[in-house]
Amino acid sequence: MNYDYKVSAAGRVNIIGEHVDYCGGKVFPAALSLTNTVYVKANGTDKINLSWTTTDFKVSLDINDLEKYADLKYGNYQAGCALVWKNAGHKLLGCDMLQDCKVPFGSGLSSSAAIEVSTLAALAVIAGEKIDKKEIALLAQKAEREYAKVNCGIMDQYASANGLKDHAILLDCKNVSHEYVPFELGDCALVIANCNKPHSLVTSKYNERRSETEEALKLLQTVLKVDCLADVTPRQFEEYKSILPGKVKDRAEHVVYECDRVSKSVEAMKSGDIKRLGKLLCESHASLRDKYEVTGKELDVLAESAQNFDGCLGSRMTGAGFGGCTISIVKKDKVDEFKRVVGEKYAAEIGYDCSFYEAEIADGIITEKL
Ligand code: GLA
Repeated sequence: MNYDYKVSAAGRVNIIGEHVDYCGGKVFPAALSLTNTVYVKANGTDKINLSWTTTDFKVSLDINDLEKYADLKYGNYQAGCALVWKNAGHKLLGCDMLQDCKVPFGSGLSSSAAIEVSTLAALAVIAGEKIDKKEIALLAQKAEREYAKVNCGIMDQYASANGLKDHAILLDCKNVSHEYVPFELGDCALVIANCNKPHSLVTSKYNERRSETEEALKLLQTVLKVDCLADVTPRQFEEYKSILPGKVKDRAEHVVYECDRVSKSVEAMKSGDIKRLGKLLCESHASLRDKYEVTGKELDVLAESAQNFDGCLGSRMTGAGFGGCTISIVKKDKVDEFKRVVGEKYAAEIGYDCSFYEAEIADGIITEKL
């Protein structure tokens, strides 16, 4: 089959700022060279014919009846994207689309955002529209929320669309704007490891954390004039935390201090203080483990084995948690040894292997005329 365009969008890691995007906080992700690529060609019909490089499954979506595909195992994300694209008033054309996903599924590296963003960008390209990365990110988030029913923040889709080679993205989720920061780790490399825990209940637990933070905000708004939880300073939090019940207090404590760690981490990266950055990563993991409770044994063993390795400056889970990946800052000349030692420790404690990924910090949406 011949296609007219090749459109890809990136998976991402989040360096720091976890579970704060939906609280109006700043986050610090970076797009990866692991991407979802869509090969696309308008077909002059009312159908989006989908196929994949990874499965023989094929499906044909009726562009006039897109609501009915939410339960598809493959094709649901594309249907959700086509629907939000159309409902936003854009021209939706029938097309043939081949999807090639190189972001490992369930890894916490945002395969879903990469699929959504590349699909939307492909729809824009065949409609002859200019790509507006911010709008595409927002529509992708809408598809994830309304169609896939994950009440997510904007981080993943925004990073997937707006990534810039060799730069991290300091994204302000309150006003949805960003600044690029050169991704510089000196004599260290970023190592991504997947704990390979079988996926379960991520959506329901994610949505539950989100409502706990909403409850915390409502209570704090009875004593403070703030629009979002990320606007509460550590000092204000310490002064008023006693009005929050048990777990809700813990969740809010994570958010407030994680936001503080994001500013400190950006400063550390800008000034080349990688040791400090590494320490902040470790603090973030501890808070996600003890206060936000989104890590689990597998991610804890993986992060702690990394943290104990001589030559690793810091390690933490990245993404939603409950499984998925860690990131570690490791001296370049020790990376091979790191993978061996951490891999062996992990397998000995957990009973199965973790995996390591090779990825660069890369651009977000890339379109190419074929
Ligand atoms: C998932 C969501 C993001 C963000 C992270 C946690 O990846 O899609 O919006 O909330 O979890 O930081």
